[in-house]
Amino acid sequence: MIKVNIDGALGFLNESELSSIDTKKPLEDLKALYENGWINLPSQFDAAYSDEIKDIAKKISDESEVLVVLGIGGSYLGARAAIEYIISPHYNALSKKTPDIYFAGNNASGAYLQQIIELIGTRDFSVNVVSKSGSTIETAIALRFFKALLTQRYGAQGLKDRLYITTDKGSPLHLMAEREGHRYLLMPAEVGGRYSVLTVVGLLPCAVAGIDIDAMMKGAKEEFETGEENACLYAAVRQMLYRSGKKIEMLACFEPAFRYLGEWWKQLFGESEGKEHKGIYPAYADYSADLHSLGQYVQEGERTLMETFVSFAKPRVNPVIPGGAIHFDKISKLEGMGLNEINASASKAVKKAHIGGGVPVTELLVPELSAASFGALAYFFMRSCAVSALISGVNPFGQPGVEAYKKNLFAILGLD
Ligand code: PA5
Repeated sequence: MIKVNIDGALGFLNESELSSIDTKKPLEDLKALYENGWINLPSQFDAAYSDEIKDIAKKISDESEVLVVLGIGGSYLGARAAIEYIISPHYNALSKKTPDIYFAGNNASGAYLQQIIELIGTRDFSVNVVSKSGSTIETAIALRFFKALLTQRYGAQGLKDRLYITTDKGSPLHLMAEREGHRYLLMPAEVGGRYSVLTVVGLLPCAVAGIDIDAMMKGAKEEFETGEENACLYAAVRQMLYRSGKKIEMLACFEPAFRYLGEWWKQLFGESEGKEHKGIYPAYADYSADLHSLGQYVQEGERTLMETFVSFAKPRVNPVIPGGAIHFDKISKLEGMGLNEINASASKAVKKAHIGGGVPVTELLVPELSAASFGALAYFFMRSCAVSALISGVNPFGQPGVEAYKKNLFAILGLD
């Protein structure tokens, strides 16, 4: 489903070296490492699991106009990415039957928290706290505010009924859920945070937003069954380019709906590969907007960049440029042309310019913006990321470097 076009990178690669990169061993290592983990998630997803998630989502939708999702990193980026990609970056502003969804617990800003509370206003709300460890400080603190708000608004029974917990078995949140009687959903123990979008972590907020989670998982399954070669090609190309001095990968897309998937991708690749003083630095650019901010650097700055473009074969809509009015520019010639043709032309123009400026460009071709292609992309990226990390000799799982700041914060706050 996800196709990889490397013609824009070939001029920067030695093809015989590319074919000499061994992706079989990393793939085997991966399967051995995660025999029952996220690798098999798409084939394990079944009607019972789907129905359980949909039942909870229905209860939330029936009872609330707002769902607040508390979580950080892999505990919120995937859900936010899916909602923006599949529905709209303006999801909350749309007229719809499903609840607004706000994300909090991903920072410790009082202003941000207060604004979310103001946005909820007098509307009925529920909370889904998502934390694998159950002890991430930003999320745990936000939870305290929202528990107080739920209690104040709905009393002890309302707090019990309206707080939904997604966590690992045995975590402090799991213990709290059992003690206080909240509805909880356990994450598969062997699936790490940034690999958890296709579990209840991502699927519950998506189902609340009205996304067809079965279609999403079908897309992931198809990718799981057919996409191994393409994922390995992407992994091998980026590792080859890295070896030739391209230390930064700029993922770029001409569809603003992709932006949060770019944020999710940054976490996935950054935390999986950035270890042992190695790793490609993952950056994301929102084109055309960032062509007018980062574009100058990409074209003429230090030559340590590689780019990966994501494009869609079929646009969601294709409005045509209106005519009639008088404009004093040449652009009037484009009257009647669809915006998709303009966007595709911009992508072609940028690709040519950047390759000419010394930036290799790899393209990922996606059929359309849909629930199925979201599932496919998520699976494609998780597989290629893990293979890429293993090619470079680091363990894609775990994030020991993130612990350093957490330890310091606990010490500064006198919690250790
Ligand atoms: O990939 C990971 O496991 C991490 O980045 C987590 O997603 C992030 O730190 C949040 O952790 P938790 O879900 O335990 O609150």
